[in-house]
Amino acid sequence: MEQEKPILTVSRVERSFQTGGRTIHVLKGLDMELRPRQLIMLRGRSGSGKTTLMNLMGGLDQPDRGEIWFRDCPFHEWNDDRRTEVRRRQIGFIFQSYALMPLLSAWENVELALRMAGVPRAEWKPRVQHCLELVGLGKRMHHRPFELSGGEQQRVAIAKAIAHRPTLLLADEPTAELDSQMGAQVMAVFQDIVATEQVTICMTTHDPTILEVADHVYQMADGTFVLP
Ligand SMILES: Nc1ncnc2c1ncn2[C@@H]1O[C@H](COP(=O)(O)OP(=O)(O)OP(=O)(O)O)[C@@H](O)[C@H]1O
Ligand SMILES: [Mg+2]
Repeated sequence: MEQEKPILTVSRVERSFQTGGRTIHVLKGLDMELRPRQLIMLRGRSGSGKTTLMNLMGGLDQPDRGEIWFRDCPFHEWNDDRRTEVRRRQIGFIFQSYALMPLLSAWENVELALRMAGVPRAEWKPRVQHCLELVGLGKRMHHRPFELSGGEQQRVAIAKAIAHRPTLLLADEPTAELDSQMGAQVMAVFQDIVATEQVTICMTTHDPTILEVADHVYQMADGTFVLP
């Protein structure tokens, strides 16, 4: 059977930074392929380059060498505006610190994501409701972030990140600030949305206990991938 086309292809990617007159080679030639409806995990010690790679995958940054293809879009060649256009509509981000708007309710936060993605207003109400129910916040829709627990805020951030139906969801340590029970809740939501929302999730983690639910684990060390 023919394999489905990859959603994202990383090919021989290198990225260095200049700091204090020195060059640090963070990524030294990475290859990776994400396919539809996968849950992929990225591991490696602090400073190994996980966030650097996620920024390249999401088109927030560009490699010094190598190629990043998001479906048919060559992110390594495209300027910021073109990458931003694709990112807004097709990619979702979840950060460790939730990144919610503090004065907006859970409902309004998710709605804002739809507005930003250019989704027609008539579709907002059912979609916001669906996404908040999906993450188990059907009874907390009108709470503001400060009225929610850390796990609940992270689940609002997930609802916000998937609302515009991205093909790819990038989550940088989404469970790092949660206790193990809330972390497990977030992972259950991730598994559920991979199955029901046609999305591929790539997440970074330090937590060995959640690696077993991954379709694939990429382990970073010294700028390359090593066997986990
Ligand atoms: N914009 C930048 N300028 C200079 N150095 C940078 C920049 N971004 C990242 N680095 C360096 O690149 C290395 C990798 O950083 P990165 O944030 O990707 O690591 P990480 O694997 O995400 O770590 P953590 O687990 O702590 O989040 C670090 O040594 C960092 O100092
Ligand atoms: Mg990081």
